[in-house]
Amino acid sequence: MAAGIPFIPDNAPFTPEQRAWLNGMLAGIFSSAPAATAAESRPSRRIAVLYASQSGTAEGLARKLAKELKAQGHQPAVSTLVGYTPAALAAESCALILASTYGDGEAPDGVRPFFEQLCLEHFPRMEKLSYAVFALGDRHYEHFCKFGQDLDSRLAALGANPLCSRIDCDIDIDEPFSQWKTDVIARLNDASSARPHAQQSAAKHISETISDPKLESKEPKQETLKSISRDNPLFATLVEKRNLTHPASTKTTIHLAFSIAETALSYEAGDACGVIPKNDSNLVAEILQSLRLNGNEQVQCGKSGTTTLHDALTHHLQITRLSRKIVTEYAKKGQCAKLLDLLLPEQQAKLEKYVYDRGLIDMLIEHPGVIDDPAELVAMLPKLTPRLYSISSSPVAHAGEIHTTVAVIRYRSNNRDRGGVCSTLFADRVSVSDRLPLYIQPNKKFRLPSDSEAPMIMIGPGTGIAPFRGFLYERRALGHKGRNWLFFGERSAETDYLYREEIEAMHTQGHVTRLDTAFSRDQDDKVYVQDRMLQNAGEFWRWLQDGASVYVCGDASYMAKDVHAALLRIVEIEGGKSAENAQEYVNALKEQHRYHRDVY
Ligand SMILES: Cc1cc2nc3c(=O)[nH]c(=O)nc-3n(C[C@H](O)[C@H](O)[C@H](O)COP(=O)(O)OP(=O)(O)OC[C@H]3O[C@@H](n4cnc5c(N)ncnc54)[C@H](O)[C@@H]3O)c2cc1C
Ligand SMILES: NC(=O)c1ccc[n+]([C@@H]2O[C@H](COP(=O)([O-])OP(=O)(O)OC[C@H]3O[C@@H](n4cnc5c(N)ncnc54)[C@H](OP(=O)(O)O)[C@@H]3O)[C@@H](O)[C@H]2O)c1
Ligand SMILES: Cc1cc2nc3c(=O)[nH]c(=O)nc-3n(C[C@H](O)[C@H](O)[C@H](O)COP(=O)(O)O)c2cc1C
Repeated sequence: MAAGIPFIPDNAPFTPEQRAWLNGMLAGIFSSAPAATAAESRPSRRIAVLYASQSGTAEGLARKLAKELKAQGHQPAVSTLVGYTPAALAAESCALILASTYGDGEAPDGVRPFFEQLCLEHFPRMEKLSYAVFALGDRHYEHFCKFGQDLDSRLAALGANPLCSRIDCDIDIDEPFSQWKTDVIARLNDASSARPHAQQSAAKHISETISDPKLESKEPKQETLKSISRDNPLFATLVEKRNLTHPASTKTTIHLAFSIAETALSYEAGDACGVIPKNDSNLVAEILQSLRLNGNEQVQCGKSGTTTLHDALTHHLQITRLSRKIVTEYAKKGQCAKLLDLLLPEQQAKLEKYVYDRGLIDMLIEHPGVIDDPAELVAMLPKLTPRLYSISSSPVAHAGEIHTTVAVIRYRSNNRDRGGVCSTLFADRVSVSDRLPLYIQPNKKFRLPSDSEAPMIMIGPGTGIAPFRGFLYERRALGHKGRNWLFFGERSAETDYLYREEIEAMHTQGHVTRLDTAFSRDQDDKVYVQDRMLQNAGEFWRWLQDGASVYVCGDASYMAKDVHAALLRIVEIEGGKSAENAQEYVNALKEQHRYHRDVY
């Protein structure tokens, strides 16, 4: 340290990043070096890297981004938006925000208070802040990336300066993230976009930082790291596995029970269970064979470090699906004429069909000899991600166990039988007494009504029944007196009536007050749960007037949208409201926490 320049001692209450930043700033302020020399080097900036994440994707990307910013000489400070304040944001000069969307286009759990404060009418303007938003979402949902969009609009309305355009990212994350990261870093390193760091504002920032311990980086504490999570799952023993569908059915849905007795894992009815799947060993063997590799080759595989190619393909990489990114990289590497042709803008529809109908194995077989270094393949493939399942048990009624209800994905395309990674793992490749890695994904917005007397209307066709089985058992075990109305739908009553005996027994006993079923393929014309809702519109409306909460679970692409439309229609017809007023009524239900959706 040069003489005369003050510095922050190692025992001062700052994170290493904050200390480095403060020392840098102090050096800048007190240094007698001529201004021209300082201007020659690229300014090192403190950058707040903030994330709003529920299942860890945005958090993982935030950490990746921070690593890269550090490598570029900047000083990133990573923090979750849970417990973060807009005042802390206003004190930053640059913030990069990665935000996912949940519920009905809302913020992830715990982030809402931050956003509500930011939206207060007289919140001070943030003209000194440069920012960029990376919005994570899933196009299956009606409100695609809405929270990231809302955050972006609000910051812009407060006068903050966008560094680059927001990216709204669907489930294929790698390519858009890499594009956004490149844009952001280019803008940060571009002297013209970097906001001038007036010594006065830097000094002001230092005093705020020193006096505001809340600005300390919110890195997870050691205890959190040790608790059971996606990165540190519990290996739970499978204690029950049975078919819920008849062998003659056109689909297979299975019930699974895992023991969590004497473990640190706990959950609430309404939560989901995350499962870390592994790929089918036959498919892994076929891929290795097509590459003429034996699987013992050492590869670097992200967070998992050095491992064998066999282990990477089995546990860490998504090997069943293709994407435009994979096809592009593979085609360019191998100069595969047919694939390069598919990548032309005018062939978009053909490329989509190619990617939808095939997996990695098809491309390796159709265009052999492209990969000679296993590391190239590892770099091309996305990570294998956990799968979520709505828990179908109640922690009170089924102490020491977690139940799930899984529809098995099987289909045939391009002359090959294929299956979903996790659902076929459950169906074909695990047996009772096997141990599987799981964790809990809390779903705080999907809970029983706080009033034990309040009526509940549950609409859950197919595997959508799962959380409602949990709710019904929980309410019965807790002695809740509120009425319960269940809508269930499946293909056929004879072969697909999931948990039939349990539900009909609860109905006979009066615990399920009303039961309406819609077996879509038992007659010529399709009948769905929303048809039953409309047939019982008067009664449905009376339950709403009595304070009922409405819950919907299952398919997001079609069912949830149609059920939503049916709910609006009931409010219009039975409540005598215009379309606009019906919408307001349903919005009010949401505000009162009386309309909840767990859709996928
Ligand atoms: C909050 C939440 C709760 C959930 N709860 C449940 C639940 O209770 N029960 C349940 O069963 N699932 C549930 N899911 C879905 C579950 O997480 C998995 O997505 C599902 O089991 C499929 O995973 P998989 O690994 O078997 O299939 P994947 O390997 O992920 O394969 C699925 C993919 O296969 C492709 N595919 C499927 N059919 C075809 C076809 N005919 N032609 C071409 N391609 C096709 C599609 O690309 C599809 O995305 C839930 C999801 C979420 C987000
Ligand atoms: N590819 C596969 O083999 C496969 C297998 C299982 C599940 N899945 C997917 O996994 C998810 C959950 O599946 P699931 O087993 O829970 O059941 P599901 O596929 O959602 O079906 C449950 C019931 O809902 C009906 N349904 C279809 N469209 C509807 C709509 N617009 N409104 C209301 N009801 C509707 C189905 O009828 P019909 O089917 O008769 O139209 C069936 O009776 C879905 O997203 C589904 O696409 C795929
Ligand atoms: C229960 C649930 C609800 C979701 N709702 C939405 C939604 O309304 N809009 C959207 O674009 N994405 C929605 N998603 C998708 C997530 O935003 C997406 O998977 C994101 O990558 C998750 O990021 P995270 O792991 O950081 O939480 C939802 C996902 C789940 C599991």
